[in-house]
Amino acid sequence: DADAQNLLERIARLKQDRDAVILAHYYVAPEVQAAADYVGDSFYLAKLAVSLPQQTIVLSGVEFMGESAKLLNPSKTVLLPEPAADCPMAHMVKRETVEAARERYGDDLAVACYVNSTVEVKSWSDVCVTSSNAVKIVSELPQHHVLFIPDRNLGRYVAERVPDKHIILNQGCCPRHEEVSLDELRELKAQHPAARVLAHPECTEQVLAEADYIGATSGIIAAAEASDADEFIVVTVRGVLYELQRRCPSKRFYFTHTPPTCRDMDMVTLEKVAACLETGLGEVAVDPAAAPQAKLTLDRMLEYAA
Ligand code: 13P
Ligand code: SF4
Repeated sequence: DADAQNLLERIARLKQDRDAVILAHYYVAPEVQAAADYVGDSFYLAKLAVSLPQQTIVLSGVEFMGESAKLLNPSKTVLLPEPAADCPMAHMVKRETVEAARERYGDDLAVACYVNSTVEVKSWSDVCVTSSNAVKIVSELPQHHVLFIPDRNLGRYVAERVPDKHIILNQGCCPRHEEVSLDELRELKAQHPAARVLAHPECTEQVLAEADYIGATSGIIAAAEASDADEFIVVTVRGVLYELQRRCPSKRFYFTHTPPTCRDMDMVTLEKVAACLETGLGEVAVDPAAAPQAKLTLDRMLEYAA
């Protein structure tokens, strides 16, 4: 309609005025993904942020994504359309947990930190990982002992695939993926017996045991596209449906009611994208005391994943 068209035109004008580029995660609302210059998973967005010519990056996603873009590009302006959108798992690890492991294992310990973490948590760590590169990076670390923070589900998934390492888990998790009901998933499978099950590694062990494919949001989308199946049960936040339908218009996708959405990602609207471009509010600032070490963990991730 005319209002939506006006909003898109306003965003296009503001982007030019500010020399800005819009990045969006696959979990945000369809209209935000449609208006973005680039859409992707957490790893893609972090990697991309270092190669963009624009002076301002609008990160349509949650706080840790904006912080990662800022850490990797200290001289750029990074704007979050909704600075209050924060991944709860980013905070789910205590400093004592890291200190105790360092004390116990000394130099033969690496602290691997899921990118879904605060700048401070990253600064306690040695290397960052995302769902799409965690197995590769952890398997290549020179240390034998690896403390994996904050996500116990991704940590357990990695531990199963890198059996020669001693992986120490921490008790954080994504409250949304943790909520997926196993009964509901089994019911959905019974209703759609030909459907392939695609799940995010933030799901519990019991849910992942039901999956045909496990991977990051980008992996789930690529798996659906590459598969010769026509129907899929997708076990992650519903936002991925936009890209799934765009790439696979003739395939059918089913979701469990739990977790239909990520409340934090849902707070990011197209109006807020326009507003941050207009006002410059929502600028990401990182703690200068934690930033250098936190940046190093992201630089290492990009090196390992290259
Ligand atoms: P991806 O890295 O798979 O995009 O996941 C990010 C996330 O927050 C999953 O809940
Ligand atoms: Fe965080 Fe979970 Fe939302 Fe991903 S889905 S941003 S892990 S709360």
